[in-house]
Amino acid sequence: MLEKIIKLTEELNYFNYQYYKKDVNIISDQEFDYKLKILEKLEHDYPSFVQQDSPTLRVGGFVSKKFETIAHQFPMLSLSNTYSKQELIDFDERIKKLLDSNDFEYVCELKFDGLAISITYEEGKLIRAVTRGDGIKGDDITPNVKTIKSIPLSLFGENWPKKIEVRGEIFLPLKSFQEINKKRKKNNEPLFANPRNAASGTMKMQDSAIVAQRNMDCYIYGLLSTSNISNSHYESLNLMENWGFNISNTYIKCNDIDEVMDYIKKWSKNRSNLPLEIDGVVIKVNDLRSQDKLGFTSKFPRWAIAFKFESESVQTRLKSVTYQVGRTGAITPVANLEPISLAGTIVKRASLHNANEIARLGLHENDLLAIEKGGDIIPKVTHINIKERRSNALPIKFIDECTECNTTLVRIDGEANHYCPNERGCSPQILGRITHFVSRNALNIDSLGTKTVQGLIQKKLVKDVSDLYYLTFNQLNGLIFKSTEEEKARSLQKKSAENIIYAIEKSKEVSLELIIFGLGIRYVGKTVSEKLAQHFYSLDNIKKASFEQLIAVDEIGERIAKSVKEFFSQEANLQMIDRLKVSGMKLALEKSSNESNDNKLSGLTLVVSGVFLKYNRASIKNMIKHHKGKITSSISSNTDYLIAGDNMGPAKREKALDLGVPILTETEFLNLIA
Ligand code: IVH
Repeated sequence: MLEKIIKLTEELNYFNYQYYKKDVNIISDQEFDYKLKILEKLEHDYPSFVQQDSPTLRVGGFVSKKFETIAHQFPMLSLSNTYSKQELIDFDERIKKLLDSNDFEYVCELKFDGLAISITYEEGKLIRAVTRGDGIKGDDITPNVKTIKSIPLSLFGENWPKKIEVRGEIFLPLKSFQEINKKRKKNNEPLFANPRNAASGTMKMQDSAIVAQRNMDCYIYGLLSTSNISNSHYESLNLMENWGFNISNTYIKCNDIDEVMDYIKKWSKNRSNLPLEIDGVVIKVNDLRSQDKLGFTSKFPRWAIAFKFESESVQTRLKSVTYQVGRTGAITPVANLEPISLAGTIVKRASLHNANEIARLGLHENDLLAIEKGGDIIPKVTHINIKERRSNALPIKFIDECTECNTTLVRIDGEANHYCPNERGCSPQILGRITHFVSRNALNIDSLGTKTVQGLIQKKLVKDVSDLYYLTFNQLNGLIFKSTEEEKARSLQKKSAENIIYAIEKSKEVSLELIIFGLGIRYVGKTVSEKLAQHFYSLDNIKKASFEQLIAVDEIGERIAKSVKEFFSQEANLQMIDRLKVSGMKLALEKSSNESNDNKLSGLTLVVSGVFLKYNRASIKNMIKHHKGKITSSISSNTDYLIAGDNMGPAKREKALDLGVPILTETEFLNLIA
């Protein structure tokens, strides 16, 4: 019986492949359904013989409670975006410079607008499909993905490596989108705003039988494997096509940026003729060795860029302008609008940035505003339809006083922003500073949500970040805080209080640059924090540094130096730092410059790759620099060590092994410099 089941499975998969890939109908639909029914019956009688790639899985029926979270073997990064042709030319120049050559090709593809998916095949069989999630880990939605008929359950052709991962975009074809919404309208169900939302909503459904009915589709655009199976992206696309994947036939090879521009022109004109929505074009360096050489920034590959098409524009009336106070006291005016639908969402507000922007627009009460979505996410006021202005409309005048604490605003000469100077008495500033300090990019005390911080401020338990380190379990346990404006008060549960205390304690271990960043000194972002940590090794040294010493540091100009001096001149800040120190927080790099033990890596060249557990990549690099090591981005015979975190690209590991470069884990590296 097993043989019969395997034979039927293979046969039906082959018919499917011919039908969806080659547009060839080898058998009639009735015959297909008949064979499928036989297979279903056999599988029902012999459930242990069901093949992983059975076509019966495509009709769904799997109901799970919740998706399992799976860590990606290779992180799912995004693409850097541009709307400007000049930036594309700059991208091309950058690549030429980095590759030190004008002789390379690009592959241009469409940027499909759907849901990114990573699908793993082992021994030619689909074993797992995971959403992008946060890029590091995503939801396992395998049963739902198996319902998509253009995704092979087992690979065709030959020469596929034992294990491959393909990346692609699941989408809802426009025709299916319209049909689904028509049905939903008839049934008085809420409509999907756009095909992208419908695709991701559908793929996250618990019942794959419903997914199976929705006619989802998928284009594959990427191949990852630890074996070297192709030399170029173009070749990978061809290989995947032969293995049965659905590759949109719109991709082309380009010899230079002019050919790329032609491709963009063609598709910005023809996009409405496609069966799905696209939001731009993706340009990738074709040669895989060159891709390797170009590498990645922390977020994007350097070898690719997305050119996005201009977005839709709509017009709506201004209802009012309100003002928000940020953590640095900067005032942001916000246009409150008559709600209007734009690119799939209802827009009610748009930032006006600052007084200059209000002046640029020449904004008057009740004006008719043209709105666009930059990057299809954030609504932006592009201009005003002056013809529609009411004759008695008054110009919008920027406020003089803070809307939260009535303090007179200040505007530093030459700056766009107005500020509320009442740093210690203006509640959104206090709240903003503390939530910034605990945020993921800073001290990462993620169990402390905004509402809890608000509760702590209201109870006068916390007025600056150092107070967090003196909170007791009893103060937190049962703390009352408002959940939302309208909602009832809630109290903090015992478990949450314990978690917060633990997370605060753990945060004392974070590295110096994260603390500097967390302090929220005006103009001191992540990069400047790293530079300061690297240069001065401790918060005490930064405090003592003169203006001249500060501007001597790479990337620190007069404006930042002035702001740092100003921060450390305030008594309240000095007291706060003292309290942090007394609480046991390390306010210095692991080793300070005047210890003799800080040149452990002198003369050595290291490559850092992947995601680390105890420190982030920037901290690891700081430690290397601190110990006089040299950091390079790619591995060569000159590399002394590769420090490998999780999710490191397979190509790097392989190259290190090939060249005999020792690979160190994070702990081994820390031991090396200890
Ligand atoms: S390549 C390292 N190619 O765009 C990232 N992505 O910002 C490599 N997307 O959500 C991605 N069409 O799912 C690539 N032809 C294409 C694409 C494409 C759509 C999506 C992708 C991701 C986003 C990247």
